[in-house]
Amino acid sequence: MRHLIDICDLSLEEIDSLISCALDIIAHPDDYAEVCKRKKLATLFFEPSTRTRLSFEAAMMELGGNVLGFSAAASSSASKGESVMDTITVVSSYADIIAMRHPKEGAPKHASMKCKVPIINAGDGGHNHPTQTLADLLTIKREKGSFNNLVVGLCGDLKFGRTVHSLITAMSRYKNITFVLISPDELKCPQYIVDIAKKAGHTVIETTDLENTIGTLDILYMTRVQQERFFNEEDYIRLKDSFILDTEKLKFAKEDLTVMHPLPRVNEISVKVDDDPRAAYFKQVENGKYMRMALIMMLLGLKK
Ligand code: NCD
Repeated sequence: MRHLIDICDLSLEEIDSLISCALDIIAHPDDYAEVCKRKKLATLFFEPSTRTRLSFEAAMMELGGNVLGFSAAASSSASKGESVMDTITVVSSYADIIAMRHPKEGAPKHASMKCKVPIINAGDGGHNHPTQTLADLLTIKREKGSFNNLVVGLCGDLKFGRTVHSLITAMSRYKNITFVLISPDELKCPQYIVDIAKKAGHTVIETTDLENTIGTLDILYMTRVQQERFFNEEDYIRLKDSFILDTEKLKFAKEDLTVMHPLPRVNEISVKVDDDPRAAYFKQVENGKYMRMALIMMLLGLKK
């Protein structure tokens, strides 16, 4: 039984084949319209989501399958005290594959241990978010053509931002990356993630300065300060607007910079940046759906 809990559960060859499959879906969507006929995807979201849940659901529908699930812990039996394990056991007798988001780090991994259908981690607390990384990788492939020899800036809440952790882990498997980690001191990237990049031989620069580093970047991955992970409202208020990308700052950036953001955006990117050809965050959303289609097919062992 294959699950996707951590981006490293996929080999580089498998990531390449997911990308090829996603590109083929984009070129020939009709060929995939019935691949998941009579299959069901359950989306179990114990934490809020717009894109991830709806893109999983849209992905399954575009493959001709059906979806069921819940979008908040309050509307599931978790609110009556049911354990994650019991919920998963029950749902696995209704669905062929499960996408699960949970505020507790490790919950999808725990759930996968006894589950008889594939489980996809759709975000676990401040830990990992591997399917966002699949969306990010397809975006990088389409915008940059390669995963090697890039200067990748990641900016904002690098401590709690799970998309950042999964993306650094994924990019560390390619060649000659310079990671520029831009955050307030209190929201620095966890050392175990920095160590993954360093041990793989990449350069890691940690800074609090966006203005003076933006000119060196090939990719700028902005992130939201993760309010829901703060213990203290005052700290959130103090840190939430630490970095705002606007058209002024973009004047110092390369002509071919790619600006990414997993979304939702709060204040980190001025809406004026949306009209700049370097803004790729809405393309990322679309790429996410195609990569999730490819992933569902892979985990269910289905071909067009
Ligand atoms: C991200 C998440 O949930 O981690 N959103 C997403 O899935 N696209 C980022 C965030 O919430 O800031």
